[in-house]
Amino acid sequence: LKVAVLRNTTEAEVLNRFGRPNREYYRESDIEAVAEVLDSTGHQTEIIEADVDLISSLERFFGPRRTAIYDQAMVFNLAYGLQGESRYTHVPAMLEMAGIPYVGSSPGAHAVCLDKYLAKMVFERAGLPTPGFQLFRAGSEKLRPELSFPLIVKPQSESTSFGIKVVRSAEQLRGAVAVIAEEFQQPALLEEFIDGLEVNCGVLGNSPPEALPPLEIDFGNATGDQAILSFEVKRDRTASHVCPARLDEKMTRRIQELAVAAFQCLECRDAARVDFRIDRAGNPYILEINSMVAIHQDGSFFCAAKTRGLSYQQMITKVFDAARARIMENI
Ligand SMILES: Nc1ncnc2c1ncn2[C@@H]1O[C@H](COP(=O)(O)OP(=O)(O)OP(=O)(O)O)[C@@H](O)[C@H]1O
Ligand SMILES: [Mg+2]
Repeated sequence: LKVAVLRNTTEAEVLNRFGRPNREYYRESDIEAVAEVLDSTGHQTEIIEADVDLISSLERFFGPRRTAIYDQAMVFNLAYGLQGESRYTHVPAMLEMAGIPYVGSSPGAHAVCLDKYLAKMVFERAGLPTPGFQLFRAGSEKLRPELSFPLIVKPQSESTSFGIKVVRSAEQLRGAVAVIAEEFQQPALLEEFIDGLEVNCGVLGNSPPEALPPLEIDFGNATGDQAILSFEVKRDRTASHVCPARLDEKMTRRIQELAVAAFQCLECRDAARVDFRIDRAGNPYILEINSMVAIHQDGSFFCAAKTRGLSYQQMITKVFDAARARIMENI
């Protein structure tokens, strides 16, 4: 097959800079690693910038429209999007419009996953446990009586722990909501702070999706609100990965079932990662699902895949093959 690996760089072109710029990037070496695996398994691969010139770049690579080998064309989508509040959806929507099959979730699934508030409403509706929550648009809303401090505040639609803060009073809460409005131009999602263990669970494939072994985040000596994956902890790598997570068999299965249920109820495809906290009484809660999962070689998704016995090459191939099988089934 001809496989275009799509990504975004700071050089990407748009007609106009508008809305919040994306701050989430894969390293170039991570993109190249995916392309190398695809090359080595016999595909003809090219890395392409997914910007305003995307369609013409694809036409150049795959061949002129209609006469081209579009049944032998595939995209591996690693583009987070360039700007705006629906950035994960832009590239899959363009591909859908152009008629190019791709690896990864649909624009609709990405839209819900990127919006933590909507995603939590779907989890609740599906009977999946998620910390109690409330959306603060103005900052002057009255706190729901069932929510009590400490609470955690985060932007409605961000990642990489941007803007996350644990608050212990109404005053701190107002301050955190104001900072999010100012820095991220969006509402703040308020959640019960779940003190306890943090684990995440990768999900791979589609029919049925397979849960990878849960991975535990070890915060070392940090406790309470220090034991969270803040932006700094992620950047400085001061927490470590333990995989498989130190859970008994029953909890391991429960986490895996919840991960697959979250993946299915948000209609994710091919690969995603679900983040959890488990409170001290042993109740698991889904924090969020990452539909644009980081699949690089030092990330938790690959760490879990390794525990499951997969090499990096096997993991990438499995994600790709899952997408291909899904597409062939639906032709
Ligand atoms: N309700 C909560 N209770 C306790 N800790 C939480 C809660 N929500 C978030 N956290 C902490 O903050 C971290 C980041 O939260 P979350 O996963 O919601 O944000 P994110 O910015 O989307 O992260 P990612 O980089 O995974 O995309 C979590 O990994 C966890 O350590
Ligand atoms: Mg997360």
